[in-house]
Amino acid sequence: MTALLAISDLHIGYAENRRILEDLRPGDPSDWLLVAGDVSEEVAGLEWALTLLSRRFAKVVWVPGNHEMWTHPSDPVQLRGEERYQHLVKVCRSLGVVTPEDPYPTWTGPGGPAVIVPLFVLYDYTFRTPDAETKEEALALAYAKDVVCTDEFLLHPDPHDSRDAWCAARVAETERRLAALPPGVPTVLVNHYPLVREPTLVLRHPEFAIWCGTERTADWHLRFNACAAVYGHLHIPRTTWHDGVRFEEVSLGYPREWRSRPTPPGRLRQILPVP
Ligand SMILES: [Fe+2]
Ligand SMILES: [Fe+2]
Repeated sequence: MTALLAISDLHIGYAENRRILEDLRPGDPSDWLLVAGDVSEEVAGLEWALTLLSRRFAKVVWVPGNHEMWTHPSDPVQLRGEERYQHLVKVCRSLGVVTPEDPYPTWTGPGGPAVIVPLFVLYDYTFRTPDAETKEEALALAYAKDVVCTDEFLLHPDPHDSRDAWCAARVAETERRLAALPPGVPTVLVNHYPLVREPTLVLRHPEFAIWCGTERTADWHLRFNACAAVYGHLHIPRTTWHDGVRFEEVSLGYPREWRSRPTPPGRLRQILPVP
């Protein structure tokens, strides 16, 4: 049966993950695939992966993860921030892959109709531990425990003043688009980060949550009529429910992570119809 499927955090810099990606296939040629970020640090890697997937699935929808947004020294493409994002969008469009900058497609297969909403809303250091009142305090506490996201060195917000300022701009622009959706139609919200904070409460280092989302999206699953929210980034694949809405963390993660799990790696998560 036709299905809407999802995966994230393919991290194809690892040869084993590359092999897993090479084996990803739809159950049915009319399946759609949601790819929720962290495919590759290099533009050529993202292009390779999405070329392969877009030939196999009827439609591929991509949102950027922080790793795609890094300006990594190993990448010949040294674009930063907004320019880098726009470049990635152009690469996706050349492959027919849907991005957060495109009209939202509607899934009309089993479990539909549902508007598929790819999101790029970043994070703004609001998922703080109770002992930190400001972004600066939260960063200081994290650094003191040697918990530092590589984004601080490689994810440049140009031309915005900061990653949180970029996040605020993305949230405002995205809310405008979401408010214009026809009322009553269910949505599937796809973002690299969880839209609510709860999934980050199980992080091994709670200080890391400041790089994992924004409180500004805390009610989006209700306000914008989500039947499911898809995300990754945490590398803690599971299903949770928030206000009656299903949240799916669909990451593959690093080999050292998936090797220790009982389930075989690279299984696509079914979003619709509800499994
Ligand atoms: Fe990741
Ligand atoms: Fe990530």
